[in-house]
Amino acid sequence: MNNQIKTIGILTSGGDAPGMNACIRAVVRSALFKGMRVMGIRMGYNGLLNGDMFEMHIRSVSEIIHRGGTILHTARCLEFVTDEGLERAKQVCIENGIDGLVTIGGDGTFRGARDLCDRGICCIGIPGTIDNDINCTDYTIGFDPSMNSAIELVDKLRDTAQSHNRCSVVEVMGRNTGYLAANIGIACGALSILVPEVEYDLDRDIVNRMLHTQRTGKKHFIVVIAEGSGSANELAKQIQDRTGIDARATILGHVQRGGTPNIYDRLMASEMGFHAVKLLEQGIGNRIVAYKDGKITDFDINKGLSMSKTLDTSVLEMSQMISV
Ligand code: F6P
Repeated sequence: MNNQIKTIGILTSGGDAPGMNACIRAVVRSALFKGMRVMGIRMGYNGLLNGDMFEMHIRSVSEIIHRGGTILHTARCLEFVTDEGLERAKQVCIENGIDGLVTIGGDGTFRGARDLCDRGICCIGIPGTIDNDINCTDYTIGFDPSMNSAIELVDKLRDTAQSHNRCSVVEVMGRNTGYLAANIGIACGALSILVPEVEYDLDRDIVNRMLHTQRTGKKHFIVVIAEGSGSANELAKQIQDRTGIDARATILGHVQRGGTPNIYDRLMASEMGFHAVKLLEQGIGNRIVAYKDGKITDFDINKGLSMSKTLDTSVLEMSQMISV
């Protein structure tokens, strides 16, 4: 593509994540710096379908670099994926002079961006989700602060588990992947970490480990379970029945999605946003911005969507040796 882009739209889609605002700020300010007009689209693809948007200026993104959530609001939009929805979105872009679009979100967001690209709107996807489950990138905006929020809470659970000699079973987000659970579990010294990538056996991986470490003097236990591996409530009941140790379940839930982005996340978000605008400035679309092998890069959306990445399960083996 070699068309000069004059007006870009920006939206956030899917689950929110800390750092999205820092990314919006970077996109808006770099695009304005390069002489483009910027339209902020509210509520993800819903806003695009409804023409719910406003022109953004350098001060539209003041005071947001440190704020969690997304000032543009976000939603998951099923209507967008239909042919009618995509045609309508294209028309709304044309009516508002939008010839480039930056979408911050996950795989669903990128599929939408690709389909809109096929209809002639230059789109760039930026990975934003706490789950870190986008295959073409080693980092997604929101991952690091989400883990920091979680470990702060698990540390608090440890205090009460320790006081009562209990087992605290903590369910963390991550959809069908265990990136959050693995890191949180290691960082919190969890006795057992359950992730969807590895099938677990209740006796071998939890009960026997608890009873064995109890014999070596351990009195309280933390078990981290990824939401994709099952339910903390059920697991806590099973643990209590099998071990006789008092167990309590905590589902961390959406607190993992909020809060201020930390420095790593703000840097990533800023660099990814800047990179997206650099691509659009050159008239390049249909790309996903990614962090790969230590640097910010980009991939064709279809290629990015077809790439695979796997959780390094050797870290779980390490954890079993040191968290005893
Ligand atoms: O993708 C981010 C995420 O927080 C997942 O970890 C979780 O499974 C899901 O979104 C929750 O979605 P919702 O906000 O729709 O409840």
